[in-house]
Order: sequence, then structure tokens, then C-alpha cells
Amino acid sequence: MHRPARDRPLRVALLGCGTVGADVVRLLDEHAGDLAARIGVPLELAGIAVRRANRKRELPVDPSLLTTDAAALVTRDDVDLVVEVIGGLEPARSLILAAMEHGKAVVTANKALLAADGASLHAAAAKHGVDLFFEASVAGAIPLLRPMRESLAGDKVTRVLGIVNGTTNYVLTRMDETGAGFDEAVEEASALGYAEADPTADLEGFDAAAKAAILASLAFHTRVNVDDVHREGITDVTVADIASAQQIGCVVKLLSIAELDPDGGGVNVRVHPAMLPRTHPLASVREAYNAVFIECVAAGRLMFYGAGAGGAPTASAVLGDLVAAGRNKVTGALGVGESAYADLVVEPIGDAVTRYHVWLDVADKPGVLAQVAQAFARHGVSIQTVRQQGLGADASLVLVSHAARDAALSATVAELSALDPVREVVSVMRVEGMDEPRVSSAGSAGSAASAGSVGSAGGRP
Ligand SMILES: NC(=O)c1ccc[n+]([C@@H]2O[C@H](COP(=O)([O-])OP(=O)(O)OC[C@H]3O[C@@H](n4cnc5c(N)ncnc54)[C@H](OP(=O)(O)O)[C@@H]3O)[C@@H](O)[C@H]2O)c1
Repeated sequence: MHRPARDRPLRVALLGCGTVGADVVRLLDEHAGDLAARIGVPLELAGIAVRRANRKRELPVDPSLLTTDAAALVTRDDVDLVVEVIGGLEPARSLILAAMEHGKAVVTANKALLAADGASLHAAAAKHGVDLFFEASVAGAIPLLRPMRESLAGDKVTRVLGIVNGTTNYVLTRMDETGAGFDEAVEEASALGYAEADPTADLEGFDAAAKAAILASLAFHTRVNVDDVHREGITDVTVADIASAQQIGCVVKLLSIAELDPDGGGVNVRVHPAMLPRTHPLASVREAYNAVFIECVAAGRLMFYGAGAGGAPTASAVLGDLVAAGRNKVTGALGVGESAYADLVVEPIGDAVTRYHVWLDVADKPGVLAQVAQAFARHGVSIQTVRQQGLGADASLVLVSHAARDAALSATVAELSALDPVREVVSVMRVEGMDEPRVSSAGSAGSAASAGSVGSAGGRP
């Protein structure tokens, strides 16, 4: 029989003691006095579940706390709070569900699980009347999810643009700043510990897509699953794309984007590399840092910036949640649960409103520009700028469209690639973060392409 939480220590079960878990243990030890003062009662480790019992660990705790029986630990009567930092879908999901069924508050950093099956976790938390906090799951140390859930609860978010994967941001920063090729930049990221041994989840955008789903769910009060997120990674980004971006005053970033459709019908959630104006606040986010830029109706534009990963930064977010959950245990309160009342439709990528930067290798013939402009016009897409690069056999055209639906833009590119004078579509990349009136229907924001909407045409094609 346990005393009420008000006058006894709160007992914490830690599931996982790797990069994040080991720092949670260290900070729990180092800040024990402050944490107790902030919660009202001390936090005590009840047990630490790991996979390999014999792994050498330097932890400031009694080694007898370690166990390989996580399932038994989470249901123990003397546990109040469970911290899950194992990662992956299973056994993390079953352990969290079992913990909640037994009345434990849960803190997790598990973006993969939340993005794949957040609905069942939230449902279990509501059913059992327990807290489920997950601040560390997106953008590591950055206080982001709680401000979105609580501080912005009175506002309307219209768009979230995030750089939420440090590995890809490091790679793209090196490509931009040193002219390094993709492989060289990835090798450098690995050597510095910014990339996993297998960096596929980062480079192909899986990690950023999971975070985009979590951000979109919170921003738009709608359940968004990782399968709803359109995903493109950075493996196809070339040195030429980076140079092209530089020529139009942009930098290439892997963006997690969640935005309300301008027609109000739904939300669009996507991850892809994009050219971003160097004047945009996110353009200055370098190397492995993360930042999330949120546009709201009343608050305007907000940016959250900081370390997106690493043991100590992530453990900081975990401990913040642990303090919040601990305070609730002491007072008998319950934190903010899932808010999915808006239940908006998650649209396909074709409905996204964006702009394209298109680089065409073209034949050196008169009338090419007119044919290219007509292809844009046929799909209702207007051209913002067009520039000729090179001369004669080396001629190429670089175009930037006005905002239009992605389906219209990709149909335009398909038509361009079939045009006789177009030898090759050298590169196509979306451009984000340039403000202009947003489209209201299937076509472009401005008038359809015409000779009048073609700017800065240089030379003959
Ligand atoms: N690392 C970061 O910078 C970061 C940032 C934000 C969020 N996160 C999230 O935090 C979570 C943990 O990441 P991490 O980098 O700390 O992972 P990690 O270093 O791989 O550590 C995983 C831990 O889980 C333990 N484990 C694995 N399978 C287990 C099982 N079946 N039962 C019990 N324990 C098991 C491992 O035990 P052994 O020690 O015996 O191998 C290890 O201690 C993930 O959800 C991740 O996405 C990480």
C-alpha cells in the first residue's frame, strides 16, 4: 500500500538507457534537489529497462536497478511515471499501453510510434486518465509541442515550416557553404557523429515525415498519420541544385511543411527539399540545428530554434515532461490531452500550393521560350521569372513559377520534358517561403502564363 503522491517520492521507470536514457539518469541525479523542489516531492528511479544486461554503462545509480524485463517493470505497483526512450514501434507501444493501463503517466521521445499510432496511445491515455507527454519527440530540446498545445490554443495556426532533422540540415549546409557533393557531405556528417551508421531514415525524409505528422496533428487539431505525409528525401539533391538556388538568392533545406489549404478544405502535410529565400528566418538555421517557423492568424510569425537532438538536449525535454507529469501526480491534475476535434481532410500532394524552380537544357533555336511559356499557360501556371544561362549548344532556361497547385506544376514539367526543343529537364525543385497571394482554385495565384508574365527573359531561346 502506497502513500498518496503528495507526501512520498514519485517513482520513475526508465525504459531504455542509450543516448537519451543515460542523460536522463545523469540529470535526474545531478538535479535531484531542484527537481524535488519544483515538483513538491523527489523523483526516484524504480528501475531501468535495457536490452543487454551485460553492456558496460557508467551510470550514477545502483546497478541492481537495471533489468531486461521491461514488461514487469512498467506494471509494478511502486511505479508512478514511465519514461520510454527505447524507440521504434515494438515493444515500445505495448509497454506504453501496459503502463497506462496500470495508471502510470507516460513520457516518451518516440516520434516513430506517435506518428504511426498516436491515436491508440492518446485513446489509452484518455481511457485510463493518465498523462501522455512527448515534447522530446520533435526537435529535441526545443520547447515546441507544449507551446503549440497550450500557448497557441487560443489562436489559429495556418502554416508550420520546420527544419526538424539535423543530419539532413548538416549535409545541405555543407553542400551550400563548401560546395561539397552529397556523398562527401554525408561522409563528413557521419565522421562528426551527425549521421547514424545507417542514415537512410534521415536522408530519405522518414524521420522528418514522422515529425511533420506530429506537428500537423497539434497545429490543426486533426489526426495526421505518417502515412498521410508526402515524403521526398535529399538523396537526389545535386551540387547543381544548390548552385541554382544560390543564383536566385535561395538556400536548399529539407522542410517539414504542414499548412491549411487556402480554400479551407483541408491540410497539406509534406516533407521535401525546397529552395528557401536567404532572407527567410529558417535559411539561417545551419548545420545540425533545428527550427520550426509557425504562422498564426493572431500571433503572426513565431520561430522556435535550438538543438534538435543529442543526449542532453533531448533529456532536457524529457525531464521537462517528467516534471509536468510529476506535478500533476502531486496535485491530482491531468495535462492537456489529444485535440483532434477539427478532423480536417489531409490532402494529397497534388493539392499543395507551392512554386517550382525548373531548369531546362534547351536546343539553340528561336521560339523555344514561347513554347515553354505556352506549356506553363496550358496548365494555368504563371511564370515569375525566366533566365537564360549559357549560349548556343549550352543554352539552358531557368524558370521560377508563381504559386500554383502541385498537380498543375508537375503536369507542366511532364509536358516540358516531352517538348521537342527541351533536351533535358535538368532539375526541378519546389520553392517555399516566398510570400504572395495564395491560390484559391486549381490554377495559379496570378494570371495564367503569358508573354507579359515572363520576367527577365534573357536572350534567344
Ligand atoms: N538520440 C537523439 O538525439 C534523440 C533525439 C530525439 C528523440 N530521440 C528518440 O529517443 C528514443 C531513444 O533514442 P536513443 O538515441 O537514446 O536510442 P539508443 O541510444 O539506441 O538507446 C535505446 C535504448 O533502448 C534499449 N532497448 C532496446 N530494445 C529494448 C527492449 N526490447 N527492452 C528494453 N530496452 C531496450 C537499449 O538497450 P541497450 O542499452 O541494452 O542496447 C538502449 O538502452 C527514440 O525514440 C528516439 O527517436 C532520440
